Amino acid sequence: MIDIHTHILPGIDDGSPDMETSLAFLQKMATAGVAELVCTSHYIRNQFHNTLQIRQEKFLQLQQEAAKQQIPIKMHLAAEVYLEPEILNDIKKEQMNIADTKYVLVETDFTGFPINLKELLYQIVRSGYKPILAHPERYTDIKKKPEIAEEFMHRNVLLQVNAGSLLGNYGRVSAKAAWKLIELGYCHFIASDCHCRSGEYLLAEVADLLTKKFDNYTSKLLTEENPKKVINNENIDAFYLENIELGKNNFWNRFKKTLSKLRS
Ligand SMILES: [Fe+2]
Repeated sequence: MIDIHTHILPGIDDGSPDMETSLAFLQKMATAGVAELVCTSHYIRNQFHNTLQIRQEKFLQLQQEAAKQQIPIKMHLAAEVYLEPEILNDIKKEQMNIADTKYVLVETDFTGFPINLKELLYQIVRSGYKPILAHPERYTDIKKKPEIAEEFMHRNVLLQVNAGSLLGNYGRVSAKAAWKLIELGYCHFIASDCHCRSGEYLLAEVADLLTKKFDNYTSKLLTEENPKKVINNENIDAFYLENIELGKNNFWNRFKKTLSKLRS
């Protein structure tokens, strides 16, 4: 598995508080089957102003300590960028894209999409970046109506659902929205968004659950194949559902069955 959303860098946001916690958590991730991860510490100007220098310093320290303990996980540096006015300048200046690729992980206001959200995203896309919206299922607007997530895909924005959401860790409504997004094909990645505070690492459990509820292909696509394409800076189809053979008990198959019953 490749986890593209983690708060594993120690002591610079609300994620891991110290090196010891980060290393223990990294070990747990390796045991769970994570081969690569992206360090996406928060970048929120007035709260977590994690410049490139700060992130790089912590990244190198963690890499060195992980190598000493022979933890077999390859790490990449990025950030989770909170969308604010003129944020494009910060993305460029502080190199917040994922591992020198065009992909950049972004987040916005949980309580309601800001009026300028589309414009901010458009500026980022127009500059050649490929935004990935973190945890769409946690935003009020999408919780109310998951179908509106399609709008982002039409604007060249990909969507990353949190593993914990699928297990109900952010409440029943987020869980429902998260599963709905996957059913609709409006999810391109599942990642942990681990803050290393609870000690639990959920991506492996969720990958198994996806195999059971959908199929192995979908599970691998969202936890391995698409994340690998990010790291390799390859294109990812925003609309992919028609390309894949989905499992037996999914929305589309149920829909098709109902349709054929109605026709007969
Ligand atoms: Fe996050």
